[in-house]
Amino acid sequence: MALILGIESSCDETGIALYHTERGLLAHTLHSQIALHNEYGGVVPELASRDHVRHISPLIRAALSKANCTLPDIDAIAYTQGPGLGGALLVGASVANALAYALGIPTIPVHHLEGHLLSPLLSTPAPEFPFVALLVSGGHTQLMRVDSVGQYSLLGETLDDAAGEAFDKSAKLLGLDYPGGALLSRLAQRGTPGRIKLPRPMLHSGDFDFSFSGLKTAVLLAVQQNDTDEQTRADIAHAVQSAIVDVLASKALSALKHSGLKQLVVAGGVGANQQLRAQLNQAAQQRNFKVFYPDLEFCTDNGAMIAFAGAARLQHARRDYRFDIKPRWDLQQINHAS
Ligand code: KG4
Ligand code: ZN
Repeated sequence: MALILGIESSCDETGIALYHTERGLLAHTLHSQIALHNEYGGVVPELASRDHVRHISPLIRAALSKANCTLPDIDAIAYTQGPGLGGALLVGASVANALAYALGIPTIPVHHLEGHLLSPLLSTPAPEFPFVALLVSGGHTQLMRVDSVGQYSLLGETLDDAAGEAFDKSAKLLGLDYPGGALLSRLAQRGTPGRIKLPRPMLHSGDFDFSFSGLKTAVLLAVQQNDTDEQTRADIAHAVQSAIVDVLASKALSALKHSGLKQLVVAGGVGANQQLRAQLNQAAQQRNFKVFYPDLEFCTDNGAMIAFAGAARLQHARRDYRFDIKPRWDLQQINHAS
């Protein structure tokens, strides 16, 4: 029985959570920096680090108060060790290690993507191992086979841009704010299906890899070649969303077929996309598999998934209080390490 404090600070969200190994998630608090980076059209690393510094302590205090706990109740501190922005990771790592040292408790360094992969287990109904995970965020697009905590096999991944990045870059070309995934999706609702045609990169490549960097060139051409009245922008948004979602859904279905598994988990920010959910839900009914989505609040970066992954890795708790962050860190490297 243990109470884990989780700290996420790998990119532009400061996320804090308290997860109890028996009582479950007690509280979580979040500060998103979207408004801060908006005017720059992307995350500015130095601003991100400074903002994490500003918010991390008040968020920890707020989570403790929500959970009706105090600092001495915490048994271990899990924090995102990587991958992510160096400066941003350092904020979480230093707070986690300093606080743990002061409290005389261990730390548990967590891989950010493992947090996303396990986040569906925070929701009910939860999938059971083994399952196929489609991990689609602003920085990653991967299909993984998940056999248990720490046993992840990569089935395929993007060769260039991530799906969220493709949404965000296309959204920018359509004049939408950053990050534009959700805004583009909203605009697409008013779009005319089929009016603008965009390529579906690597749809028939026969493997589980993706490539989205060519899409933004096609979107740029579509924007340049058409009048950019409101309806045309919506039509282009519809085409972008359909192209990305068609490829994601099709490859996820092939991965299920290939692995013979009957459960698909969709994690990461793009998992919030309603069109992706609709297509996968329909396929699940037709092909008799189950699809799981983390609650929306756990789809994007959050502290709960880090606290939860920390709880699953309690045996890796350590007391060396080193700030050794890993801005680049392949998920495969943590295999069999659970
Ligand atoms: O997992 P996440 O919060 O952060 C990363 O670790 O990257 O994912 C953020 C990404 C962004 O690219 C954002 O535009 C995208 O998820 N996103 C969406 C939607 N909501 C968030 N993309 C498409 N449709 C959405 N509804
Ligand atoms: Zn993430």
